[in-house]
Order: sequence, then C-alpha cells, then structure tokens
Amino acid sequence: MTQNKKIKSIAVLTSGGDSPGMNCAIRSVVRTALGRGIKVYGIKRGYLGLLESNFIEMNASSVGNIIQHGGTILQTSRCPEFHKSEVRAKAYKILQDKGVDALVVIGGNGSYNGGHLLSEEHGLPVVCLPGTIDNDIEGTDYSIGFDTAVQTAVDAVDKIRDTAHSHERTFIVEVMGRRSSAIALHVGVCTGAENIVFPSESLDIKQISSDIKRGIKRGKSSSIIICAEGNEPGLSYKIKEELLKDSGIDAHVCILGHIQRGGSPTSIDRFLASRMGHVAIEALLSGNYPIAASFVKGEVIPLDLSQCLGKKDEYLPHFTDLARALSI
Ligand code: F6P
Repeated sequence: MTQNKKIKSIAVLTSGGDSPGMNCAIRSVVRTALGRGIKVYGIKRGYLGLLESNFIEMNASSVGNIIQHGGTILQTSRCPEFHKSEVRAKAYKILQDKGVDALVVIGGNGSYNGGHLLSEEHGLPVVCLPGTIDNDIEGTDYSIGFDTAVQTAVDAVDKIRDTAHSHERTFIVEVMGRRSSAIALHVGVCTGAENIVFPSESLDIKQISSDIKRGIKRGKSSSIIICAEGNEPGLSYKIKEELLKDSGIDAHVCILGHIQRGGSPTSIDRFLASRMGHVAIEALLSGNYPIAASFVKGEVIPLDLSQCLGKKDEYLPHFTDLARALSI
C-alpha cells in the first residue's frame, strides 16, 4: 500500500536465529538510507533490545568491513514477550520518543509477525527482510543464510563420507530444521544421501533400512541418512535405535547443530542480502509499506507484508524421488 508519511529517521534490528548474510543486509539498509539523507539507528539484541531502548546511531563506517562476517553485529534474541500487545505498545512508545519514523526488521517468521503487529496496531511504517537459514518464510523463494547453511552442512557430510567409506559405516547426520525440510532436502540431494527424513513425514524405518541394504548389495561401502532435527530432540538417536532393532544396522549419529548458522556468507547470501536491503529502503521511502523484500521468480521485489506471515515447508515429494533415484 502506498502512504506518504515523511520518513527522516529509521531503526534497524535483527531478530530470531542469526543467519549468515544478516550483516550484509544491515550494511545495505544503513548505506542505502544514509545515501538518501535518512538518520539511521541500529537496535541491539532484537526486540528485547528495543524494549531496553538499546539504540546506537549508525554511519557508513559502522557497517564497514562486516560484509564477510557471519552472525549479526547488532546481535539478536528471541523475544516471546513481544506476543503481548501491551509490550508492543511500549516498544512503539520507545520508538516515538527516540524520533524513529520507521522500523526495518531482519529475521524469520516470528520477527515478521512482530513487525506486522506493530504496523497494524500503531500505524508504524515497517519493512522486513527474510533472515533465517530455514528458508521457510511464505512469499519469498529465498531467505538470507540458507545457501551458506546448506554449504556448511554439505562440506561436513563430504568429510563424514570419507570416514564412512573408510570404515564401511552408516551415518545419520542431523541437520537443522524443526518444522522446515529445506536444509535436509538440499543437503540430502547434494550429498547423494541414501535417505532423507523430513519433519513433516512419519518415520519409515523399513524404507530407510531397505535403502541402505540395497546399496550394500550392489557394493556400496557407506550410507548417509540425512535427518531434519524435527520438533522433539533426539530423532537421529531414535532412528539409530530402530535401525539396529529392525535390521542390525549399527549406524553412527552426527548432529551438525549450530555450526550451520555460523561462518562467512556465500556470495549468493551476500548478493541477495545487499539487494534486499536496498529494495526494502527504496520501497519504504517511496511510501510502500508495510512490505517484505521477497525473492520471487529470480528477482527481489517488495511484497505486501500480510502475504508473508505464514510458514512454508519446502518438502516436495519429487525431490525425495530425485534423491532416491540418484542413490540406487
Ligand atoms: O533460526 C532457525 C533455526 O536455526 C532452526 O533451524 C532451529 O530449529 C532453531 O533455529 C534453533 O534455535 P535456537 O538457536 O534458538 O535453539
């Protein structure tokens, strides 16, 4: 929707799980806004920091030499209190007192919803950028950090393959994604996994053991099962136990965990984060808000924020078929 409030000052925060490329997004937001004569504040520690009035004024040098670094220079937090309307009202008052005209939120689903509610309840101009390794935000084909996280996991699995092959072992490698299959799917296909376990599917031990046995029969010396962490901790150990019970296969478990969230962003993450920051600020300054900078059909566009509030799960049966077809 197009509006005409004059924006002279903005604040930017990162929220939820950090993701590689968030720094590139901050840099792009800050430098695009400064270039348009806008005063820029960084808010440290996400919505929590906003409630603590934790602002720093930013200039072009504040975002110098950060493009190659993972994490977020603004730091981040998960802030369940922000679900309460009275807490959001307090946040709005803090922004008003500071003279902030608009808020830029870089984060995942929870962060988008917080921004949307601030905009709905208080008329605050808000723009969001997708920052999560899970790539599960509705309305965008891509979220900042996904490529780096997948590459980190692929590198790790390649190393695990070396030892799996040398010892003729089966490994269950657990990747991140409580409700998102995207990392598991991409890592599984890119590492030639024998089977991929998705959070949205019920566990099929018979299928996993038949995939492993089929490989062994035709002379494979190692097997890799990629498993998304799912909502309950311990899934990969459950698979290990059941495989042993079902078919005597004694698999090793490797949980990759938070290494997937760290590290230097790939060029894909750097480029898209830079583009998204620029598009978001240009949209904001032309009165187009609340929006989210979204990657749609190969281009970054501003999309109405209300279309981007849901979670999507990138599990697609034809990709499982692809993984299975190539790992015979
Ligand atoms: O940010 C997304 C994510 O990394 C998920 O893949 C994972 O399930 C979750 O965050 C872990 O969150 P935390 O670091 O807060 O335990």
